[in-house]
Amino acid sequence: RARVLSGIQPTSDSFHLGNYLGAVKQWVALQDDFDDAFYFIPDMHAITVPTDPAALRDRTRRSVAQLLALGVDPAKSTIYVQSHVPEIAQLTWVLSCITGFGEASRMTQFKDKAARQGTEGAAVGLFTYPILMAADILAFQVDSVPVGEDQRQHLELTRDLANRFNTRFGETFTVPDAYIVKEFAKIYDLQNPTAKMSKSADSDAGLINLLDEPKRSAKKIRSAVTDSDSVVAFDRENKPGVSNLLTIQSALTGRSIDELVASYEGKQYGHLKVETAEVLSDFVTPLRGKVDELLADTDHLDAILAAGAHKARAIAATTLSDVYDKVGFLAPA
Ligand code: TYM
Repeated sequence: RARVLSGIQPTSDSFHLGNYLGAVKQWVALQDDFDDAFYFIPDMHAITVPTDPAALRDRTRRSVAQLLALGVDPAKSTIYVQSHVPEIAQLTWVLSCITGFGEASRMTQFKDKAARQGTEGAAVGLFTYPILMAADILAFQVDSVPVGEDQRQHLELTRDLANRFNTRFGETFTVPDAYIVKEFAKIYDLQNPTAKMSKSADSDAGLINLLDEPKRSAKKIRSAVTDSDSVVAFDRENKPGVSNLLTIQSALTGRSIDELVASYEGKQYGHLKVETAEVLSDFVTPLRGKVDELLADTDHLDAILAAGAHKARAIAATTLSDVYDKVGFLAPA
């Protein structure tokens, strides 16, 4: 059976536009194309940096509500919380024993995140984070993993570990492919349009949170950094800000970049900004309502998660018992 899987961290009250356009939008489309879809909230990844327990619990439910509101359908997809599937943590240990220290040290996201905290103070869990991510994927024998560009290196490590294990112990894991949609794989910060949009940027002026007041986001879009030229054209090198706005509008409307560029002939950047803000507002306004409705019924959310964990555990347990057997663990009597 062809399987797709991905995860999004519950590290904020709202997903941002990069999370949606780079990842979740593809999840929604792919749940129809694959036999099985697994979408989960990696709460264990979230605690690799200091995290408030009450906020984590709240954000985990909020993340599930956002996935549902964005179109992830529990009738088509298995939706679960990572910590509800303990087999993932068990598999992580085995994988960590075939991961090289040097190999893990080369992960650029670790280096960036650790540098922000001062490397000495960074948790060992932040260092082994990519191995947990490999276990997330390999436990489910997944073919395709839809992510943004920033996860590419972690997917490469996952593939290396799968191949290494298969070579050493015999065919065990499906080797997954990253599914990265080039046009939308990196949505940029509105104030700093050569850096990716991220909740950990120094300022949040360039960050669009889906659940923010649409007026607030409109203001951020109107203040987006562009360039001193005035022709609306798509040119990542010389017009990164304008290109980012065109990308966002194209992704939210389904209109092609060329079509949008043609529609702005003879118009100013102001037009592009105002219309991009309108398109965003049209998208997030109903979304905010749906998320509120879903959050009002925690029993419903928890039931979806319980069913998801049940299904996910059955599959992960099958992989884990094969792995335990292959590495030579004595089966408990
Ligand atoms: P996370 O939670 O940081 O981000 C969730 C998804 O959003 C994508 N993304 C972006 N895409 C385009 N432009 C941006 N500016 C942008 N910012 C974020 C990310 O690439 C990601 O796809 N380690 C993962 C979560 C994870 C996971 C997994 C993913 C844990 N286990 C297993 C896939 C499979 C992460 O921190 O994503």
